[in-house]
Amino acid sequence: MTPTARRSESAESMRAGRKTAAVSIATLMRFTAILCFVAAAPIVLHSQNHRGAAASDVKSARPIEARAAFENLCASCHGLDARGGERAPDIVSRPGVVHKTDAELVKILRDGKTAEGMPSFASYGPAKLSALVAYLRTLQGRGKETPLPGDAARGKTLFFGKGKCAECHMVAGRGGFFARDLTAYAAGMAPDEVRAAIVNPNQDLDPRRGLLTVTLSDLSVLSGVARNEDNFSLQLQTQDGAFHLINKAELRATTQTGRSPMPSDYASTLSAAELNDLVSYLLQTSRSEKTRRGKAEDDDEE
Ligand code: HEC
Ligand code: HEC
Repeated sequence: MTPTARRSESAESMRAGRKTAAVSIATLMRFTAILCFVAAAPIVLHSQNHRGAAASDVKSARPIEARAAFENLCASCHGLDARGGERAPDIVSRPGVVHKTDAELVKILRDGKTAEGMPSFASYGPAKLSALVAYLRTLQGRGKETPLPGDAARGKTLFFGKGKCAECHMVAGRGGFFARDLTAYAAGMAPDEVRAAIVNPNQDLDPRRGLLTVTLSDLSVLSGVARNEDNFSLQLQTQDGAFHLINKAELRATTQTGRSPMPSDYASTLSAAELNDLVSYLLQTSRSEKTRRGKAEDDDEE
């Protein structure tokens, strides 16, 4: 198949105008596929000036979605960490980019520099472009090696010890299976965002992901998170990571607590310094994970 059918205008001019060797067909198809993929998933970004949504929604939803959008739209050329790749320059530490205002960067995204191979992203609209620029700023912050708020080594000890985080979460292949693997979780996040996720696990919780307690007909009680449910059965994952397939005919009672199974009292059981150490550990492990993955991707392309 030729890429002609779905080639976008910006990709076209990008190809035509490229100063050095023409972008290979494979690259073009890959880029076009990314655009199509993103177009098919219109909820990539929340509007930044979406006054209707609660402030906390925007604050918690935007960074992660902007990261996904960056990874879909920009990373193929600029690299996952925006430090540059074969097709596009470093936009994290180059002073010419860092010192531009947000408005100037939004304009670059909108207009592109099609003669130099930077496509126009005008179709994404100003709010999404601002969110992308805000995400780029967090990467630039990382580029300057934002100091960690605490001591990552002590944070690691807390994670696997007193904090009991590893009973549920895994980092770098060690820990529990009950909750999300946090190895790359904090990539591109600010320390405050990571701290908020730790001390406030019920914020923005999807109620279906809350702790569920069930009583079976033999009066035994199980607590965990529903991972799957149909008319006849319920699959419950308990904190030890084990899955239990429960026949609904055996259910005596179920209580959906609507609360995250994650303890919500870390703000009081850990000191501010300890929280900073944990935040530092999660940030550091995500940074090194990103570097590792970036390298692996480069190797793939050789
Ligand atoms: C098809 C490859 C490609 C994609 C995809 C791409 N860029 Fe670029 N970008 C480039 C190239 C090439 C340049 C260098 C242009 C030049 O020489 O001035 C560039 C330059 C830039 C610059 C610096 C402009 C300047 O004046 O120095 C920024 C900022 C930027 N891109 C951001 C982004 C963002 C954000 C995305 C995702 C929304 C993105 N780019 C997607 C290829 C790409
Ligand atoms: C009893 C199990 C449990 C313990 C202990 C626990 N968590 Fe969690 N944590 C969860 C669950 C469940 C979630 C919800 C999302 C998921 O499934 O990962 C969560 C969510 C998170 C998130 C947000 C993840 C996201 O996708 O937004 C972070 C960060 C986090 N925990 C960090 C920690 C840290 C740090 C500790 C230790 C101080 C800890 N957790 C202890 C169960 C636990």
